Amino acid sequence: MKNYLQFFMDSLYRVSGEPGRQHEFVTRFYDVFIGKTPVIAGYFSDTDMSRQKEMLAQSLHEMVEFSTTRVASERLRHVALRHSRRERDIAPELYEEWLESLIETVREFDLEFTDEVELSWRVVLSPGIAYMKFRYDHF
Ligand code: HEM
Repeated sequence: MKNYLQFFMDSLYRVSGEPGRQHEFVTRFYDVFIGKTPVIAGYFSDTDMSRQKEMLAQSLHEMVEFSTTRVASERLRHVALRHSRRERDIAPELYEEWLESLIETVREFDLEFTDEVELSWRVVLSPGIAYMKFRYDHF
């Protein structure tokens, strides 16, 4: 019986396992996310999106590591500080939009998408999202 981490890793591989595919996936994710609200678009108005896309792919792996080890790496701490009130000031409720955008993108890209796959993305990413949201005003 597959556990949710396995469901997630298999899906992540299908949507972004190959380099060209990863680029398409991350590009689509940002189109969906930035298209959600003008507030979100506003945050990225001065951002170098090609760097941003590489960062996202990398940080998904950090989120997985956090979910499995429950240890926040130096890098995850840094990312959380960057989003906190002290720096980019990303309101905690925006993480809901982030997760929904990601799942919408997975639904489009993963040819084997099912409810279990969707739930695996929610379950695996939740600890990292809880960490980021809490750090918003706890630095
Ligand atoms: C758990 C969810 C998220 C992850 C894993 C994530 C990941 C990252 C990473 C790795 C960076 C680069 C940090 C660096 O410069 O070293 C970044 C930057 C950024 N993120 Fe996020 N992010 C998340 C959620 C959000 C949300 C909800 C927003 C809301 C708008 C957001 C907006 C931004 C902005 C504005 C930057 C800075 C871009 C710049 O340098 O111009 N992020 N994010």
